[in-house]
Amino acid sequence: MSRYFILTVLLAAILTGCISKSFNPKSKFAEGRNIVADSGMVVSAHPESSKIGVTILLKGGNAVDAAVATEFALAVCYPVAGNIGGGGFMLIRLADGTTDMIDYREKAPLLASRDMYLDPSGNVAGGLSTDTHLASGVPGTVDGMVNVHSKYGVLPFREVIQPAIDLARKGFSVSAGQARDLNSNRENFIKRNASLPRFVKVEPWKAGDTLRQPELAMTLERIRDKGRDGFYSGLTARLIVKEMKRGNGIISEQDLAVYTAKFRDPLSRDYRGYKIISVSPPSGGGVILFQILGMVEPFNLGRMGFHTWQSVHLMTEAERRAFADRSQYLGDPDFIEVPVNEIIDRGYLNKRMSNYNNEAASPSELIKPGSLVDNMSEETTHYSVVDRMGNAVASTTTLNGGYGNSIVVDSAGFLMNNQMDDFSLKPGTPNMYGLTGGEANSIQPGKRMLSSMTPVIIEKDNRLFMVAGSPGGSTIPTSVFQVITNVIDFGMDIGQAVDTGRFHHQWQPDVINYETNSLDSATVSKLKSMGHRLVERSAIGRVNAILVLSDGRKKGGADRRGDNISCGY
Ligand code: GLY
Repeated sequence: MSRYFILTVLLAAILTGCISKSFNPKSKFAEGRNIVADSGMVVSAHPESSKIGVTILLKGGNAVDAAVATEFALAVCYPVAGNIGGGGFMLIRLADGTTDMIDYREKAPLLASRDMYLDPSGNVAGGLSTDTHLASGVPGTVDGMVNVHSKYGVLPFREVIQPAIDLARKGFSVSAGQARDLNSNRENFIKRNASLPRFVKVEPWKAGDTLRQPELAMTLERIRDKGRDGFYSGLTARLIVKEMKRGNGIISEQDLAVYTAKFRDPLSRDYRGYKIISVSPPSGGGVILFQILGMVEPFNLGRMGFHTWQSVHLMTEAERRAFADRSQYLGDPDFIEVPVNEIIDRGYLNKRMSNYNNEAASPSELIKPGSLVDNMSEETTHYSVVDRMGNAVASTTTLNGGYGNSIVVDSAGFLMNNQMDDFSLKPGTPNMYGLTGGEANSIQPGKRMLSSMTPVIIEKDNRLFMVAGSPGGSTIPTSVFQVITNVIDFGMDIGQAVDTGRFHHQWQPDVINYETNSLDSATVSKLKSMGHRLVERSAIGRVNAILVLSDGRKKGGADRRGDNISCGY
């Protein structure tokens, strides 16, 4: 055999990724919260999903292959939010600057109706939209992943999903935080399921225990072998519908058959010389983020200083005004006219800030009458990916509440979402929290519920600069906003930008929530004297970001709030 032949075969093997089967990926990548890597990187909520994502990059997959692998892996190792029974938004920027997004948000079932969560007296019936089979929208994750992979992936789909199958079968070691979360949800798992799901153990979970999910592995195998039909028809569909019938849920075989994820045009705007790209409705996240950025841009935030009363006040007033617009204007663009361009227009935003007073809080009732439905849960998850070519993916995915409605599809091993709760359950009148929602986000069959998910990709001088996103319900856009300003206005390194304290204002309730110890007491006193109400709380957001350094290397920003980890090579 000639030397040239051997060389050619070796080269072909490298190009097709064949030799990847023989290397040990563990020796090929670095992991840590803030590692720096030369080529590709994945930052996600769990070490197993980040490892699986980077392994796909090492096999020659691109950022979309790695993202799809990470998404399926999260469905196994991060069941509190990772899912195949939920949905999300994925934002893509290819190395040539092309951008795209896929909306794989859940849809209201065809039998859904505007008042389906109201009791006979017309009040929102407690728990119906969160804790029951009726709380689930038609899941979008599998269709989204299959479609985005077929448009952009380079590795075979089966190769991309296989690591998640192996992980489900072999099991993974639960962290201390996961053990705590599983134990605290134990009663819900027991009460709401016909048979005990894998998430319940006789003894309480403790760190280091192994969670194996053979039924989920079999469902993932059906998806591996049949693509979307492995979920939306055949055995999985029958199991979902059977589970629904058991608990008076309304998702039918027809709902599953007609569900489609949708490619949409992302939004973009400049901010101080950077191009910010994010998702368009039915997530309100991009619009809210752009409104806030547009309202603070005329001011010199950097000179005001990080977490001074001046910068916190300004950022709060912008957040307040953006959230005030949310309930009025935002919803599913397939059902209502969403005036996106008008409400992110600079002139409009300048007008929104015309009553800004730099010495006093603007009470929310004076900003706009009415109030906002925002009882969104904070259990969502975000991952960021960059490959060696410079393709980037920012994806945020969720079941809505932690573990969704806690209902595991019997014999299929996956949790269902409770995303229907993100609709305005009773538009026009106060809901059970005393808040009022918008008609734009009312329930209609086949409509997508409004989201706050805000995956973001940032360019500087036409080059990839940053990829980021966060869980956190209504705190998502404000968390992403603050990480952006931490980097651009306050000059922080990505690790510090992600880890430092955050605050949040969402118009109603009229309060600044701030993470414990994030604002100093002098700042808190000054803000109170200006008329702000401040309430301390636990973690806000859980950002997973990647920053591209000036020499092209990638730096991970895996949030300290959780088990988040960056893997890169
Ligand atoms: N369920 C949270 C969100 O979509 O923003």
